[in-house]
Amino acid sequence: MHWLQLEVQVGSADAEALGEALQAMGALSVDYLAAGDRSVLEPAPGETPLWPELRLRALFDPARVAEDELRLAVAATLGAGRQADLQFRRIEERDWLGAFRASLQPLRVGEGLWICPSGTRCPEAGGIALRLDPGLAFGSGEHPTTAMCLEWLAEGPTPGRMLDYGCGSGILALAAAALGAVEVVAVDRDPQALAATTANAGANDIDCIRACRPEALPGALRFDTVVANILSDALIELAPLLCGRLAPGGRLALSGVLASQAEALRAAYAPWIELSERRQRNDWILLAGFMRD
Ligand SMILES: C[S@@+](CC[C@H](N)C(=O)[O-])C[C@H]1O[C@@H](n2cnc3c(N)ncnc32)[C@H](O)[C@@H]1O
Repeated sequence: MHWLQLEVQVGSADAEALGEALQAMGALSVDYLAAGDRSVLEPAPGETPLWPELRLRALFDPARVAEDELRLAVAATLGAGRQADLQFRRIEERDWLGAFRASLQPLRVGEGLWICPSGTRCPEAGGIALRLDPGLAFGSGEHPTTAMCLEWLAEGPTPGRMLDYGCGSGILALAAAALGAVEVVAVDRDPQALAATTANAGANDIDCIRACRPEALPGALRFDTVVANILSDALIELAPLLCGRLAPGGRLALSGVLASQAEALRAAYAPWIELSERRQRNDWILLAGFMRD
């Protein structure tokens, strides 16, 4: 058994119509992939912005539709005189999910701290293993911004009571709990992230994590540790809120920041905290500091 894969480059204005036309031709799946190196970072919940130029990839049953029929359908959708570069490939049947699962390996994310996907074992005797599978919410541990937060947390001291603002999969909250946090409040504006965090806490038998929307954050709570891995514009806007949640002497880490944005972040947090650059990976940095007493 095999499948027929069609890939074609289109502008975002044509992408939806072409996707629908291919679905009408019996496409079993339609994916949109970046054609250039422009990133679409952190869209708001419910938004699915597209890259200006993208590659549309669709999969068909070759017993039901032929390459020539697909060429005609693409030409009819894009309109007369528009040339599209169509590429066809034969895809052999495989257990894709099984192959993906088998490719997942434990990831060391700090001194003695490991992220272990289902079906894997912690390779370090006495190491702390967090059970976590890649899912819809951001945070598998591989992205540099997450990895830097995990290392910062693992470096100590114990997180005490922690606020994980923009929790995604809950990976930082799980790590904090494993590192001895007494209580973790995990906040996200995306309901999918809150569901993932709660499910991941349950899968790790951790009961000190509470996931909630930003507006449900209990008013009087102050935290020993605050971590936020969000983009820099949001971090600047959140400066009074995050600093207002820190206990005197408490420590803050900000990730999701590009090196070129460090100065703007430092200025926004200067009334409360002197931030310094604690880590750098590629263009990403982690800024951290202590709340003044
Ligand atoms: C880059 S992910 C970080 C996930 C995880 N903490 C990690 O380090 O891998 C950022 C998360 O912050 C959430 N987020 C972005 N802006 C937010 C805001 N203003 N308030 C609350 N959550 C926000 C997003 O929904 C997303 O789940």
